[in-house]
Amino acid sequence: QANERESMFLVSEFASNYFHKNLLENEQGKAIGLSYFKERGFTDETIKKFQLGYSLNEWEAFTNEALNKGYNLKYLEATGLSIVKQDLLAASGTKQFDRFKGRVMFPIHSMGGRVLGFGGRILTNDKKAAKYLNSPDSDIYHKSNVLYGIHYAKQTIAKEDNCFLVEGYTDVISMSQKGILNVVSSSGTALTENQIRLINRLTKNITILFDGDAAGMRASIRGIDLVLEQGMNVKVLTFPDGDDPDSFAKKVSTEELKNYLANNSQDFINFKVSLLMEEAKNDPVKKAGLIRDIVISISKIPDRIQQEVYVQECSRIMDISESVLFNELAQINNKQQ
Ligand code: CTP
Ligand code: MN
Ligand code: MN
Ligand code: MN
Ligand code: MN
Repeated sequence: QANERESMFLVSEFASNYFHKNLLENEQGKAIGLSYFKERGFTDETIKKFQLGYSLNEWEAFTNEALNKGYNLKYLEATGLSIVKQDLLAASGTKQFDRFKGRVMFPIHSMGGRVLGFGGRILTNDKKAAKYLNSPDSDIYHKSNVLYGIHYAKQTIAKEDNCFLVEGYTDVISMSQKGILNVVSSSGTALTENQIRLINRLTKNITILFDGDAAGMRASIRGIDLVLEQGMNVKVLTFPDGDDPDSFAKKVSTEELKNYLANNSQDFINFKVSLLMEEAKNDPVKKAGLIRDIVISISKIPDRIQQEVYVQECSRIMDISESVLFNELAQINNKQQ
Protein backbone atom coordinates (compact mmCIF):
# COMPACT_ATOMS: atom_id res chain seq x y z
CA GLN A 1 0.00 0.00 0.00
CA ALA A 2 2.82 2.40 0.86
CA ASN A 3 4.52 1.39 -2.38
CA GLU A 4 1.35 2.01 -4.35
CA ARG A 5 1.08 5.52 -2.96
CA GLU A 6 4.75 6.16 -3.64
CA SER A 7 4.23 5.08 -7.25
CA MET A 8 1.33 7.52 -7.52
CA PHE A 9 3.48 10.35 -6.14
CA LEU A 10 6.25 9.54 -8.60
CA VAL A 11 3.99 9.61 -11.63
CA SER A 12 2.42 12.86 -10.40
CA GLU A 13 5.83 14.44 -10.02
CA PHE A 14 6.77 13.25 -13.48
CA ALA A 15 3.57 14.80 -14.84
CA SER A 16 4.22 18.09 -13.08
CA ASN A 17 7.71 18.34 -14.59
CA TYR A 18 6.45 17.28 -18.01
CA PHE A 19 3.63 19.88 -18.05
CA HIS A 20 5.99 22.59 -16.84
CA LYS A 21 8.53 21.73 -19.52
CA ASN A 22 5.79 21.78 -22.19
CA LEU A 23 4.85 25.27 -21.13
CA LEU A 24 8.38 26.62 -21.38
CA GLU A 25 9.84 24.64 -24.29
CA ASN A 26 7.16 23.11 -26.51
CA GLU A 27 6.00 25.27 -29.46
CA GLN A 28 2.30 24.72 -28.73
CA GLY A 29 2.93 25.12 -25.01
CA LYS A 30 4.65 28.45 -25.50
CA ALA A 31 2.17 29.77 -28.06
CA ILE A 32 -0.93 28.82 -26.10
CA GLY A 33 -0.12 28.10 -22.45
CA LEU A 34 2.74 30.46 -21.73
CA SER A 35 1.13 33.36 -23.54
CA TYR A 36 -2.06 32.74 -21.55
CA PHE A 37 -0.19 33.07 -18.25
CA LYS A 38 1.75 36.08 -19.54
CA GLU A 39 -1.48 37.78 -20.52
CA ARG A 40 -2.69 37.23 -16.97
CA GLY A 41 0.40 39.06 -15.79
CA PHE A 42 2.32 36.15 -14.28
CA THR A 43 6.09 36.61 -14.38
CA ASP A 44 8.64 33.93 -15.32
CA GLU A 45 9.62 33.75 -11.67
CA THR A 46 6.03 33.13 -10.58
CA ILE A 47 5.48 30.52 -13.28
CA LYS A 48 8.58 28.71 -12.10
CA LYS A 49 7.76 28.99 -8.40
CA PHE A 50 4.31 27.46 -8.82
CA GLN A 51 5.51 25.01 -11.47
CA LEU A 52 2.68 26.06 -13.78
CA GLY A 53 2.30 23.91 -16.85
CA TYR A 54 0.50 23.06 -20.07
CA SER A 55 -1.07 19.79 -21.17
CA LEU A 56 -0.88 19.48 -24.96
CA ASN A 57 -4.10 19.57 -26.93
CA GLU A 58 -3.68 15.96 -28.08
CA TRP A 59 -5.49 12.84 -26.97
CA GLU A 60 -2.63 10.87 -25.51
CA ALA A 61 0.57 12.94 -25.64
CA PHE A 62 1.13 12.80 -21.88
CA THR A 63 -0.01 9.21 -21.41
CA ASN A 64 2.29 7.95 -24.17
CA GLU A 65 5.26 9.92 -22.84
CA ALA A 66 4.72 8.49 -19.35
CA LEU A 67 4.36 4.93 -20.66
CA ASN A 68 7.51 5.36 -22.76
CA LYS A 69 9.38 6.50 -19.66
CA GLY A 70 8.32 3.28 -17.93
CA TYR A 71 5.47 4.51 -15.73
CA ASN A 72 2.74 1.94 -15.19
CA LEU A 73 -0.70 2.59 -16.69
CA LYS A 74 -2.18 1.42 -13.38
CA TYR A 75 -0.82 4.50 -11.60
CA LEU A 76 -1.65 6.85 -14.44
CA GLU A 77 -5.23 5.70 -14.05
CA ALA A 78 -5.17 5.68 -10.22
CA THR A 79 -4.06 9.34 -10.13
CA GLY A 80 -6.64 10.24 -12.78
CA LEU A 81 -3.96 11.68 -15.06
CA SER A 82 -5.06 9.22 -17.72
CA ILE A 83 -8.53 7.93 -18.39
CA VAL A 84 -8.77 4.30 -19.44
CA LYS A 85 -11.77 3.15 -21.46
CA GLN A 86 -12.81 -0.15 -22.97
CA ASP A 87 -12.00 -0.46 -26.66
CA LEU A 88 -12.84 -3.74 -28.34
CA LEU A 89 -10.80 -2.84 -31.41
CA ALA A 90 -7.58 -2.39 -29.47
CA ALA A 91 -5.30 -5.38 -28.94
CA SER A 92 -5.23 -4.71 -25.20
CA GLY A 93 -9.01 -4.30 -25.05
CA THR A 94 -8.65 -0.74 -23.73
CA LYS A 95 -7.60 2.67 -24.90
CA GLN A 96 -6.35 5.54 -22.81
CA PHE A 97 -6.26 9.30 -23.09
CA ASP A 98 -5.14 12.39 -21.20
CA ARG A 99 -7.57 13.83 -18.67
CA PHE A 100 -6.19 17.37 -18.91
CA LYS A 101 -5.89 17.67 -22.71
CA GLY A 102 -5.40 21.29 -23.82
CA ARG A 103 -5.44 22.90 -20.36
CA VAL A 104 -3.02 25.06 -18.40
CA MET A 105 -1.96 23.19 -15.30
CA PHE A 106 -1.70 24.05 -11.61
CA PRO A 107 0.04 21.31 -9.59
CA ILE A 108 -1.28 20.94 -6.04
CA HIS A 109 1.30 20.18 -3.36
CA SER A 110 1.15 18.70 0.12
CA MET A 111 2.44 20.63 3.14
CA GLY A 112 5.73 18.80 2.54
CA GLY A 113 5.87 19.71 -1.15
CA ARG A 114 4.88 16.47 -2.86
CA VAL A 115 2.59 16.65 -5.89
CA LEU A 116 -0.85 15.34 -4.92
CA GLY A 117 -2.93 16.32 -7.92
CA PHE A 118 -3.73 19.04 -10.43
CA GLY A 119 -6.18 21.71 -11.38
CA GLY A 120 -6.42 22.32 -15.11
CA ARG A 121 -8.01 25.43 -16.62
CA ILE A 122 -9.51 25.71 -20.07
CA LEU A 123 -8.25 28.57 -22.22
CA THR A 124 -11.42 29.34 -24.08
CA ASN A 125 -14.39 31.10 -22.61
CA ASP A 126 -16.67 28.21 -23.52
CA LYS A 127 -19.37 28.47 -20.88
CA LYS A 128 -20.48 24.89 -21.46
CA ALA A 129 -17.15 23.37 -20.46
CA ALA A 130 -16.08 23.35 -16.80
CA LYS A 131 -13.58 26.17 -16.30
CA TYR A 132 -11.43 24.06 -14.02
CA LEU A 133 -11.03 20.33 -14.07
CA ASN A 134 -9.44 18.79 -11.00
CA SER A 135 -7.78 15.47 -10.25
CA PRO A 136 -10.29 13.00 -8.89
CA ASP A 137 -9.94 11.94 -5.26
CA SER A 138 -7.48 9.08 -4.94
CA ASP A 139 -5.25 7.40 -2.38
CA ILE A 140 -2.93 10.42 -2.47
CA TYR A 141 -5.37 13.26 -3.22
CA HIS A 142 -8.36 14.14 -1.07
CA LYS A 143 -9.77 17.47 -2.24
CA SER A 144 -11.29 18.24 1.15
CA ASN A 145 -7.99 17.71 3.02
CA VAL A 146 -5.87 19.89 0.78
CA LEU A 147 -5.10 23.59 0.69
CA TYR A 148 -3.57 24.90 -2.51
CA GLY A 149 -0.36 26.81 -1.83
CA ILE A 150 0.23 25.55 1.72
CA HIS A 151 3.70 24.30 0.83
CA TYR A 152 4.80 27.78 -0.29
CA ALA A 153 2.93 29.63 2.45
CA LYS A 154 3.62 27.66 5.62
CA GLN A 155 6.72 29.51 6.81
CA THR A 156 5.20 32.94 6.31
CA ILE A 157 1.89 31.90 7.90
CA ALA A 158 3.79 30.95 11.04
CA LYS A 159 5.97 34.05 10.94
CA GLU A 160 3.11 36.53 10.31
CA ASP A 161 0.85 34.52 12.63
CA ASN A 162 -1.98 34.88 10.12
CA CYS A 163 -3.26 32.95 7.14
CA PHE A 164 -5.14 34.53 4.24
CA LEU A 165 -7.67 32.13 2.78
CA VAL A 166 -8.82 32.73 -0.80
CA GLU A 167 -11.12 30.87 -3.19
CA GLY A 168 -8.96 30.19 -6.21
CA TYR A 169 -5.59 29.07 -7.53
CA THR A 170 -4.89 32.35 -9.31
CA ASP A 171 -5.72 34.34 -6.17
CA VAL A 172 -2.88 32.57 -4.32
CA ILE A 173 -0.52 33.12 -7.22
CA SER A 174 -1.24 36.81 -7.75
CA MET A 175 -1.01 37.64 -4.06
CA SER A 176 2.28 35.78 -3.87
CA GLN A 177 3.58 37.70 -6.88
CA LYS A 178 2.68 40.89 -5.00
CA GLY A 179 4.78 39.77 -2.05
CA ILE A 180 2.00 38.42 0.16
CA LEU A 181 3.12 34.89 0.84
CA ASN A 182 0.85 33.69 3.65
CA VAL A 183 -2.01 32.72 1.34
CA VAL A 184 -3.76 29.42 0.66
CA SER A 185 -6.84 28.43 -1.31
CA SER A 186 -9.64 26.01 -0.50
CA SER A 187 -10.06 25.66 -4.29
CA GLY A 188 -13.70 26.51 -4.45
CA THR A 189 -14.95 24.05 -1.83
CA ALA A 190 -16.56 25.07 1.43
CA LEU A 191 -13.89 25.00 4.10
CA THR A 192 -13.58 21.64 5.87
CA GLU A 193 -12.43 20.65 9.33
CA ASN A 194 -9.32 18.97 7.96
CA GLN A 195 -8.31 22.05 5.99
CA ILE A 196 -8.71 24.16 9.12
CA ARG A 197 -6.55 21.72 11.07
CA LEU A 198 -3.74 22.21 8.56
CA ILE A 199 -3.84 25.95 9.24
CA ASN A 200 -4.29 25.48 12.97
CA ARG A 201 -0.87 23.82 13.12
CA LEU A 202 0.68 27.10 11.93
CA THR A 203 -1.49 29.91 13.34
CA LYS A 204 -4.71 30.62 15.24
CA ASN A 205 -5.64 33.50 12.94
CA ILE A 206 -7.44 33.22 9.61
CA THR A 207 -8.47 36.06 7.34
CA ILE A 208 -10.94 34.99 4.69
CA LEU A 209 -10.81 36.94 1.44
CA PHE A 210 -14.10 36.53 -0.41
CA ASP A 211 -14.61 37.03 -4.11
CA GLY A 212 -16.65 40.20 -4.52
CA ASP A 213 -19.81 38.38 -5.49
CA ALA A 214 -22.73 37.24 -3.37
CA ALA A 215 -22.12 33.59 -4.22
CA GLY A 216 -18.57 33.84 -2.92
CA MET A 217 -19.69 35.24 0.39
CA ARG A 218 -22.51 32.78 0.98
CA ALA A 219 -20.29 29.81 0.18
CA SER A 220 -17.63 30.89 2.60
CA ILE A 221 -19.92 31.84 5.45
CA ARG A 222 -20.94 28.23 5.76
CA GLY A 223 -18.24 26.28 7.47
CA ILE A 224 -16.89 29.17 9.46
CA ASP A 225 -18.46 27.89 12.66
CA LEU A 226 -15.96 25.06 12.19
CA VAL A 227 -13.12 27.54 12.53
CA LEU A 228 -14.65 29.13 15.63
CA GLU A 229 -15.06 25.67 17.18
CA GLN A 230 -11.34 25.12 16.97
CA GLY A 231 -10.81 28.27 18.99
CA MET A 232 -9.39 30.17 16.05
CA ASN A 233 -9.92 33.85 15.27
CA VAL A 234 -11.61 34.57 11.98
CA LYS A 235 -11.59 37.81 10.10
CA VAL A 236 -13.25 38.54 6.81
CA LEU A 237 -12.33 40.86 4.02
CA THR A 238 -14.34 41.62 0.91
CA PHE A 239 -13.32 43.12 -2.41
CA PRO A 240 -15.12 45.67 -4.54
CA ASP A 241 -17.95 44.28 -6.63
CA GLY A 242 -16.75 41.89 -9.31
CA ASP A 243 -13.18 41.66 -8.07
CA ASP A 244 -11.45 38.65 -6.62
CA PRO A 245 -8.03 38.83 -4.93
CA ASP A 246 -6.33 38.05 -8.24
CA SER A 247 -8.04 40.76 -10.28
CA PHE A 248 -7.76 43.26 -7.42
CA ALA A 249 -4.05 42.56 -6.91
CA LYS A 250 -3.45 43.24 -10.60
CA LYS A 251 -4.97 46.73 -10.35
CA VAL A 252 -2.98 48.06 -7.41
CA SER A 253 0.59 48.44 -6.26
CA THR A 254 2.08 46.16 -3.63
CA GLU A 255 1.80 48.95 -1.11
CA GLU A 256 -1.85 49.61 -1.92
CA LEU A 257 -2.64 45.91 -1.64
CA LYS A 258 -0.93 45.64 1.73
CA ASN A 259 -2.78 48.70 2.98
CA TYR A 260 -6.10 47.36 1.71
CA LEU A 261 -5.56 44.08 3.54
CA ALA A 262 -4.46 45.82 6.70
CA ASN A 263 -7.34 48.30 6.80
CA ASN A 264 -10.36 46.38 5.58
CA SER A 265 -10.54 43.18 7.56
CA GLN A 266 -13.60 42.81 9.72
CA ASP A 267 -14.25 40.53 12.64
CA PHE A 268 -16.24 37.55 11.34
CA ILE A 269 -19.16 37.72 13.75
CA ASN A 270 -19.63 41.43 13.13
CA PHE A 271 -19.44 40.80 9.40
CA LYS A 272 -22.02 38.04 9.52
CA VAL A 273 -24.38 40.11 11.63
CA SER A 274 -24.12 43.13 9.35
CA LEU A 275 -24.55 41.10 6.19
CA LEU A 276 -27.57 39.18 7.40
CA MET A 277 -29.14 42.22 9.04
CA GLU A 278 -29.20 43.91 5.64
CA GLU A 279 -31.59 41.21 4.49
CA ALA A 280 -33.60 40.80 7.67
CA LYS A 281 -34.04 44.32 8.91
CA ASN A 282 -37.72 44.71 8.01
CA ASP A 283 -38.74 41.13 8.57
CA PRO A 284 -39.28 40.08 12.22
CA VAL A 285 -39.39 36.36 11.39
CA LYS A 286 -36.13 36.49 9.50
CA LYS A 287 -34.61 38.59 12.24
CA ALA A 288 -35.52 36.03 14.88
CA GLY A 289 -33.92 33.29 12.79
CA LEU A 290 -30.87 35.43 12.36
CA ILE A 291 -30.49 35.99 16.10
CA ARG A 292 -30.50 32.25 16.66
CA ASP A 293 -28.02 31.75 13.83
CA ILE A 294 -25.61 34.33 15.25
CA VAL A 295 -25.90 33.05 18.80
CA ILE A 296 -25.13 29.55 17.58
CA SER A 297 -21.93 30.92 16.01
CA ILE A 298 -21.05 32.65 19.26
CA SER A 299 -21.70 29.46 21.22
CA LYS A 300 -18.98 27.71 19.18
CA ILE A 301 -16.31 29.97 20.62
CA PRO A 302 -14.59 28.05 23.43
CA ASP A 303 -13.65 31.16 25.42
CA ARG A 304 -16.56 32.39 27.59
CA ILE A 305 -15.18 35.91 27.99
CA GLN A 306 -14.89 36.27 24.24
CA GLN A 307 -18.48 35.03 23.96
CA GLU A 308 -19.60 37.81 26.25
CA VAL A 309 -17.83 40.49 24.25
CA TYR A 310 -19.55 39.27 21.11
CA VAL A 311 -22.94 39.29 22.76
CA GLN A 312 -22.42 42.93 23.68
CA GLU A 313 -21.40 43.88 20.15
CA CYS A 314 -24.24 41.96 18.53
CA SER A 315 -26.72 43.54 20.85
CA ARG A 316 -25.57 46.91 19.60
CA ILE A 317 -25.48 46.04 15.89
CA MET A 318 -28.80 44.18 15.92
CA ASP A 319 -30.52 46.54 18.32
CA ILE A 320 -31.61 43.77 20.65
CA SER A 321 -31.18 43.71 24.40
CA GLU A 322 -28.20 41.83 25.73
CA SER A 323 -30.39 39.82 28.05
CA VAL A 324 -32.31 38.27 25.15
CA LEU A 325 -29.05 37.21 23.56
CA PHE A 326 -27.60 35.93 26.84
CA ASN A 327 -30.72 33.85 27.46
CA GLU A 328 -30.53 32.33 24.02
CA LEU A 329 -26.83 31.65 24.48
CA ALA A 330 -27.40 30.02 27.88
CA GLN A 331 -29.99 27.70 26.36
CA ILE A 332 -27.68 26.65 23.57
CA ASN A 333 -24.72 26.22 25.94
CA ASN A 334 -26.87 24.02 28.18
CA LYS A 335 -27.98 21.86 25.28
CA GLN A 336 -24.39 21.38 24.22
CA GLN A 337 -23.27 20.14 27.63
N1 CTP B 1 -13.31 25.75 -9.27
C1 CTP B 1 -13.36 24.44 -9.71
N2 CTP B 1 -14.14 24.08 -10.78
C2 CTP B 1 -14.87 25.04 -11.45
C3 CTP B 1 -14.83 26.37 -10.99
C4 CTP B 1 -14.04 26.70 -9.91
O1 CTP B 1 -12.69 23.58 -9.13
N3 CTP B 1 -15.60 24.67 -12.51
C5 CTP B 1 -12.45 26.09 -8.13
C6 CTP B 1 -11.04 26.43 -8.60
O2 CTP B 1 -10.12 25.99 -7.62
C7 CTP B 1 -11.09 27.95 -8.67
C8 CTP B 1 -11.97 28.27 -7.46
O3 CTP B 1 -12.94 27.23 -7.46
O4 CTP B 1 -9.80 28.51 -8.56
C9 CTP B 1 -12.64 29.63 -7.52
O5 CTP B 1 -13.51 29.70 -8.63
P1 CTP B 1 -13.65 31.01 -9.49
O6 CTP B 1 -13.67 32.21 -8.61
O7 CTP B 1 -14.78 30.81 -10.43
O8 CTP B 1 -12.34 30.93 -10.40
P2 CTP B 1 -10.99 31.80 -10.30
O9 CTP B 1 -10.09 31.14 -9.31
O10 CTP B 1 -11.29 33.23 -10.12
O11 CTP B 1 -10.39 31.47 -11.74
P3 CTP B 1 -9.99 32.46 -12.93
O12 CTP B 1 -9.47 33.72 -12.35
O13 CTP B 1 -8.96 31.65 -13.65
O14 CTP B 1 -11.22 32.64 -13.76
MN1 MN C 1 -7.46 7.34 1.29
MN1 MN D 1 -16.02 33.17 -7.53
MN1 MN E 1 -12.48 34.00 -8.45
MN1 MN F 1 -10.34 35.00 -10.88
